Amino acid sequence: MTKITVSSLRKMKQAKEKIVALTAYDASFAKLFADQGVEIVLVGDSLGMVLQGGEDTLSVTTDEIAYHTRCVRAGSKSLFVVADMPFMSYSTPQQACENAATLMRAGANMVKLEGGEWLIESIQKLTQQGIPVCGHLGLTPQSVHVFGGFKIQGRDNEQAQKMIADAKALEKAGAQLLVLECIPSALAKLISDAVLIPVIGIGAGKETDGQILVMHDLVGISAGYIPKFSKNFLAETGNMVDAVKKYSDDVKSGSFPGPEHEFN
Ligand code: KIV
Repeated sequence: MTKITVSSLRKMKQAKEKIVALTAYDASFAKLFADQGVEIVLVGDSLGMVLQGGEDTLSVTTDEIAYHTRCVRAGSKSLFVVADMPFMSYSTPQQACENAATLMRAGANMVKLEGGEWLIESIQKLTQQGIPVCGHLGLTPQSVHVFGGFKIQGRDNEQAQKMIADAKALEKAGAQLLVLECIPSALAKLISDAVLIPVIGIGAGKETDGQILVMHDLVGISAGYIPKFSKNFLAETGNMVDAVKKYSDDVKSGSFPGPEHEFN
């Protein structure tokens, strides 16, 4: 199986080939996802909710992400593995480098940090030290208490302009991938067009360069609740392998997400 790298992901954006991403937390699912055409696996701090049953992601630690990153890497050598940096694990550039090193040693290809311009120095330091970075803008779940809940972001003009400026600043600082979560589709398109790095959306419409879902949402078992931007592919296909294959095919063909999964 061909190894996915930052260069192949960038080429996919240039060729307008959609990138397929999913969260994963163990070896068996990582292997299944790789076999069904998934290119990026995120060891997300969403594990605090879907694996640990928490109300948010704030209690997750770097050691927990490192453990699950090791499990995921054991399942696939070819997948591009992004490891989430947990809440308060990257408050200073020095702290970011130390914790990111733990995740890279566990088998990650890249680390993901939530936030905009304030991360510039950390991103510069990480990339200088050989650690690739993924940014994350929009509904950044580690800031849930600042937002007053899991709410759509970027709906007013000022917020939207700030998000575009943040995306450009992250790219300039060295970020090589960007996740946009729960923002209006038109804004996601503006951002995807404004940067050269691949942009992966979740609840951000179909115009981003790729899509990601939390794997539990894809099979409809996230605490009995399926977010508007997700779809229960298991209900449609009847088994796990076909559900992942259908998701992968639908992202590639542009038929997922549909208008019913978007925010305007
Ligand atoms: O933690 C996570 O799973 C994420 C995705 C929702 C993008 O950050």
